[in-house]
Amino acid sequence: MSDVEVADERHPIAASPEVKAKVMADFAAGAAESGMGRRKLIRNTMFGALSLVPLSGIVLLRDMGPLPEKKLRTTMWAKGLQLINMNTHEPLRPEDVAVGSLTFAMPEGLSEHDHDFQTQIAKAALMIVRIQPEDIKDKRELEWSHEGIVAFSKICTHVGCPISLYEQQTHHVLCPCHQSTFDLSDGARVIFGPAGHPFRSCGSA
Ligand code: FES
Repeated sequence: MSDVEVADERHPIAASPEVKAKVMADFAAGAAESGMGRRKLIRNTMFGALSLVPLSGIVLLRDMGPLPEKKLRTTMWAKGLQLINMNTHEPLRPEDVAVGSLTFAMPEGLSEHDHDFQTQIAKAALMIVRIQPEDIKDKRELEWSHEGIVAFSKICTHVGCPISLYEQQTHHVLCPCHQSTFDLSDGARVIFGPAGHPFRSCGSA
């Protein structure tokens, strides 16, 4: 490839006034010839058909089944439920969570054999990390954390991919789908990427 820089100027794409005038004249002549203005029945039928267009959208959406209502906003989590380590399937104890590690947890009572396991885990999976309390920048997060252990939803707030990458030095987590990056030491604030909201924390449930 040549390394000489070349600029190709873009040609104007607007039609000239003469061409525009000709098009408008042709259009007016066509409309007059067709007699559209006089044929009320055709015109009214056309307007009637156009007014039904939005209805087809509603019918299509209704065919997708009942609306989810609050089901997308609620998870299995409830006060008193134990966190279960998703790798060992054992209850997660504070001493199991080391500084710098990322652990995934699910609510007690959820089993991979449940018929709605995928639906529930897609909403309830948590990521658990331990941060030195002096490194936690967000005051509210510091209040609800336990000895520096914090729990956030594992589901990215962009379009819902599961988070998998954790950088222990910065406490940043990265979504593999579109690279949104969140700071777990600062209320899971979005620091990069298309996600519009921080992760939901257990402290804000
Ligand atoms: S789903 Fe996470 S950045 Fe898009």
